[in-house]
Amino acid sequence: MAVNMKGKSLIEINHLTLEEIYQIFDLSATLKQERLIGKKHYILEGKKLGMIFAKPSTRTRVSFEVGIYELGGYGMFFNQNDLQLKKSESVSDTAKVLSRYLDGIMIRTFDHQDVIDLAKYGSIPVINGLTDLHHPCQVLTDLFTVLEKRRTLRELKLAYIGDGNNMAHSLLHGCSKVGMNISIASPSGFKPLDFVVKESMENAKYMGSKIEILEDPVSAVKGADIIYTDVWASMGQEKEAEERKKRFMGFQVNPQLVKHAKEDYLFMHCLPAHRGDEVTDEICDSPNSVIFDEAENRLHVQKAVMALVM
Ligand code: CP
Ligand code: NVA
Repeated sequence: MAVNMKGKSLIEINHLTLEEIYQIFDLSATLKQERLIGKKHYILEGKKLGMIFAKPSTRTRVSFEVGIYELGGYGMFFNQNDLQLKKSESVSDTAKVLSRYLDGIMIRTFDHQDVIDLAKYGSIPVINGLTDLHHPCQVLTDLFTVLEKRRTLRELKLAYIGDGNNMAHSLLHGCSKVGMNISIASPSGFKPLDFVVKESMENAKYMGSKIEILEDPVSAVKGADIIYTDVWASMGQEKEAEERKKRFMGFQVNPQLVKHAKEDYLFMHCLPAHRGDEVTDEICDSPNSVIFDEAENRLHVQKAVMALVM
């Protein structure tokens, strides 16, 4: 039976039930198929989505804007500097004002609390398009992509190599919610936050799956079905990039490392990739790599999210 998600915000994957996650995947597959055959689906005719970006973006911006257009709605882009938000106006007042004009807000920003507050004080759904803590749209898309390729999520093993950042956090929530095993290898001092690991451990216990937080990339990758990595310095950490490069030596996804995974492993990356740092060209461009399918699927999955919540 369909679960009613109208009005629900997408702040982090842990706020979704398993039924809601699979509902998003089912609708994503339908919308993808319909687009392929050129069928129009004006599910959100006349609806307005505000898109606020305090950080740069290629995929998130373009896929949301194309997505709302293809659903029959209208997307409005705001660089954070275009708005009074957090300059001469609070998040709560902004949320109340935007709720009078729009039908939904997508926001990419630094402080996760701002997304929580926008949803709390506004009366329209808020979709997190990346914060320092989480990137739920990306990980829902990644899980959908694995489902397309492998027809199942349970009992697969995903190895995440690198920084314990927003991607690692959302992967921990996402994999544990759907019963996928996840092994994370990060240098000491760059591990995912304890409270996110704890929340994910609770999901994993419920689903009967496993979580490992390690420092050795080879152990993490051993027998993996999926190898995932992300940049060593995220947006906002540019000044730390050189120092981080030294700390992440040995955490590159390269031909030596992937030998320890299953032969038909999938290579995934949210992109943008810093080729030559966290991953080499051979891996990005190998037949195992599904990085551009992930990028495409952002469109289909986010259309499903918007269609369900707006
Ligand atoms: N993966 C992702 O969110 O890409 P952008 O930063 O280009 O939006
Ligand atoms: N961890 C990266 C993800 C980019 C999609 C960042 O926050 O910059």
